[in-house]
Amino acid sequence: MTEWTPAAVRARAEAVTEAEARARVDVLVPAINDHSRRYHTDDAPIVDDRTYDLMVRELELLETRFPTLVRDDSPTLRVGDVPIDGLVPFPHEVPMLSLGNAFSADELREWARRVGDRLAKETGSAPEVLALAVEPKLDGLACELVYEDGVLTGAGTRGDGEVGEDVTHNVRTIRAIPARLHGDDLPRRLSVRGEILFPLEGFAEMNRKREAEGLKPFENPRNAAAGTMRQLDPRLAAGRPLTFFAHSFGFLEGTGAPLAPSHLAQLHQLAAWGLPTNPLNARAEGIEAALEAIEALGATRHDLPYEIDGVVLKVDDVEAQRVLGFVTRAPRWAIAYKYPPPEVATVLDAVDFQVGRTGVVTPVARVRPVRVGGVTVTNATLHNEDYLRRYDLRVGDAVTVKRAGDVIPRVEKPLDAEGRPVEEPGHADRPETVFPETCPACGTPLERHETAGADEGKKWVCPNTLSCPAQLRAGLRHLASRGALDIEGLGAKLIDQLVDGGLVRRVSDLWDLDLATLSGLDRMAEKSANNVLAQLERAKDRPLDKALVALGIADVGEATARDLARAFGSLEALIDAPAERIALVPGVGPSVTASLQRFLHEPHTRAELDRLRAQGVRFAAVPVTLDLDALGQPAAAADDHPVRGKVFVLTGTLPTMTRDEAKERILAAGGHVKGSVSRKTDYVVAGAEAGSKLDKAQELGVEVLDEAGLVALLEAE
Ligand code: IVH
Repeated sequence: MTEWTPAAVRARAEAVTEAEARARVDVLVPAINDHSRRYHTDDAPIVDDRTYDLMVRELELLETRFPTLVRDDSPTLRVGDVPIDGLVPFPHEVPMLSLGNAFSADELREWARRVGDRLAKETGSAPEVLALAVEPKLDGLACELVYEDGVLTGAGTRGDGEVGEDVTHNVRTIRAIPARLHGDDLPRRLSVRGEILFPLEGFAEMNRKREAEGLKPFENPRNAAAGTMRQLDPRLAAGRPLTFFAHSFGFLEGTGAPLAPSHLAQLHQLAAWGLPTNPLNARAEGIEAALEAIEALGATRHDLPYEIDGVVLKVDDVEAQRVLGFVTRAPRWAIAYKYPPPEVATVLDAVDFQVGRTGVVTPVARVRPVRVGGVTVTNATLHNEDYLRRYDLRVGDAVTVKRAGDVIPRVEKPLDAEGRPVEEPGHADRPETVFPETCPACGTPLERHETAGADEGKKWVCPNTLSCPAQLRAGLRHLASRGALDIEGLGAKLIDQLVDGGLVRRVSDLWDLDLATLSGLDRMAEKSANNVLAQLERAKDRPLDKALVALGIADVGEATARDLARAFGSLEALIDAPAERIALVPGVGPSVTASLQRFLHEPHTRAELDRLRAQGVRFAAVPVTLDLDALGQPAAAADDHPVRGKVFVLTGTLPTMTRDEAKERILAAGGHVKGSVSRKTDYVVAGAEAGSKLDKAQELGVEVLDEAGLVALLEAE
């Protein structure tokens, strides 16, 4: 009989060897998933909650000891951002918008001036002093609460602003949120928006406990709040000290008495009904008074019991808000000021040079670990040689690490008025960091390449595309990835072993691997080896577009690969196609055509493609659905095409197109692509990790498109 006590679970998890742990994980995962389904879906559990919790704990302990044992179907992966089967959509009757951003006092002054001008224009008279609400920008999870006849009937996360997830079951456990409003004159229907927060003290305590139990601590209070709200079992939320502040309205119907004409007074009304509002919200008469309040709050913000990441300024007069209205996704009457990103001092321990899939060498800083803005930073990119030079970074230097949002941390040093690094004691005695002249992985002399387009700059590149182990490793990881050949089981660890052991020297060697070789590797039981072989076999049939992605040709991302496949159907047809025809494919201009042809006609590539085909990799033909003749010359884009003459700015990573592809397609349709956002910009196309350009767009009210929006525009008649 398995003993289910905390001590027994811990003892078991600590005693097992890796092989035993794997076997145990293979028992626990399906069992837990089965119990979970019985509990949540069938409402008929066959184990008690305590046993269930201890099973999960044992699994977590094993996964913490042996992280490679985390199976794709592990229930521990459901904690996080992955959609959970049990959560249902929560549509917002009135969309939940975002806010424009300002990063300096001058940008806030500029915003206030625009607000004043617009009010003057729209109403004929602007107030002499603009009354503003100054509110902490709470760094939590945005949430909408719906009350009907004073009773809480639903609660949902923000989601994409239109539809979030229904988290009513968890919201009901938050003590700060009343299940029933009190007072007279309750509205018939009311939607309130606010922020769910994880108070810092409770957060620290929870993480202490988690660590003591061998569980992974949460990164920061915001993630912890979000992770808690996405749990299916409300008992988890009930055990955590979440709190809430209301900050705005969605809708309000059937009020007993007219509401006050001021935003802050309306928040007071919410407070009177029993909804918590932030006691630090204040009124400022004019932008200069607001700036003083921002400064004062900034000085004490680290003493607050919860995290804030800035301040929100709102025009307090509700009628003025109505007049000002909205631009696309944000109100004109409000703006967020973000405090400068946290910066922490540390020491540069080492500079490594990493070689990527395309041979580009990137310097990477290893710093003494520091907590910055809620996460521990140990590595940071140093971008390129110019960046290294600008800061004259040497091992042992005192540096600062800066984190802004989700962007990769930056390593910097103080600069003087001329932009030169301020000399620090000891610096001159340390050896200068020299960019290697030869590839750190294969020793081939590096070449200097200039790149144009979206990622302009000078780069050092290892030209040994065929046998540089670092490029091969990165290339194999790319080849195995989901958008390419999707070879499950061919992960980074296995790739390292294959390349380091000389078992794979070129891509085609993958299909020469056999069971004996694979199962002789570290952490490779016969079962996983067989699985990898089956996956490799399956990958032979991947269609041409995926196979083109897998080849990792410069400038050919998923979108271009798809269009190339749709236009030419087979690899042979693509190889034989003249440059003029390839250049007709949307998104493929002369530079992509050149890089594609260089690749396809290069003798070593040809030999490798022949080997691949001999091994049965089919580059399966796809139907030709893109009629290049009908597309005509790219320059002949229709005169009245909606993209024609429009100015685009691209930012962030798009899901399927590279930025160069997007750029070429916009240019082909007669549009322009610029590097920075201004009033003249018509559209900002934003992808993942979009940065300040997106903020600027929102601030200026420039329309923001995602990739699908851009494609819709490009394909419009
Ligand atoms: S008012 C129409 N006030 O910031 C916009 N939002 O970037 C109404 N946030 O997800 C929002 N503190 O949840 C408002 N005092 C505050 C806020 C606040 C935090 C969040 C909000 C939204 C995001 C907008």
